[in-house]
Amino acid sequence: MVKKLFFELVSRLSEITEDPRFEADVIFQTVFGRDWRVKELSGKLAEPTESELEALEKLAKRRLSGEPLQYIVGEWEFYGLGLKVSQGVLIPRQDTERLVDVSLGLIGDIPRPCVLDLCSGTGCVALAIKSRRPDSEVTALELYPEAYEVLQENCRESGVMTVCADALDKKNAESFSELDLITANPPYLDAGDMKSLQREVGFEPKTALYGGEDGLDFYRAFAKIWRGALRVGGYIALEIGTGQKEAVSLILGEAGWREIRVENDLAGKPRVAVGRK
Ligand SMILES: C[S@@+](CC[C@H](N)C(=O)[O-])C[C@H]1O[C@@H](n2cnc3c(N)ncnc32)[C@H](O)[C@@H]1O
Repeated sequence: MVKKLFFELVSRLSEITEDPRFEADVIFQTVFGRDWRVKELSGKLAEPTESELEALEKLAKRRLSGEPLQYIVGEWEFYGLGLKVSQGVLIPRQDTERLVDVSLGLIGDIPRPCVLDLCSGTGCVALAIKSRRPDSEVTALELYPEAYEVLQENCRESGVMTVCADALDKKNAESFSELDLITANPPYLDAGDMKSLQREVGFEPKTALYGGEDGLDFYRAFAKIWRGALRVGGYIALEIGTGQKEAVSLILGEAGWREIRVENDLAGKPRVAVGRK
């Protein structure tokens, strides 16, 4: 019975995704447990309950309406960590793992480094850094309450401190000092990008995506207002979007940063801009 339901779901999902088998499996794990295949083989799922069938149909309908799988299952993996996600917070992208790699390199030689992650969302960057550098002191900053709630939950018992504050407000920047590293994956889509979002991205909060008319508002602000929060020799590492390499390098240069460079991601695209105070 359950196997038949599984293949029916694979067939329905094949209309909206390129990996219907994987997605059906994730949905089945959510409804029947991670070991649903084992249970199925041992006959324990021969008669799914009414509530299991209802839950399955509800999740299937949400996915078929275009809602991202990550929101439906409520969690996603980033840098080997299982993170809670829900509507109101950006789904961590694999590309952002590059920001973590570069950041870990920047603090590699510093004992007990102090790190601040701006625009933290789920806290994926802050948590990944803390997981690889348990000796670091990491703070994650996020403005929007719905995202902040998820951030707090993900950071519980991780040792990462959280702050609910506006990263664009100079006063907040002035309350930090002597940091070794500031990281951020800020909103960086421009007005044109926002008009042509893929259906699934349309479910994610606009406040996590829109970086102003030309997509560069956060880089301009961060380059100026967060410099004072770093110790001399400290670094800023910023994820950037397509076509932003030159503009962000220029912004950092004009604000007085040195040793500016842009690191590519695994696909060879410019992905992380770095500057040094
Ligand atoms: C592109 S998302 C990145 C989230 C997370 N760091 C990641 O990589 O998945 C940008 C995040 O910045 C937050 N944000 C937007 N404006 C902000 C502001 N003025 N101050 C602090 N956080 C802000 C959004 O709520 C969102 O969580």
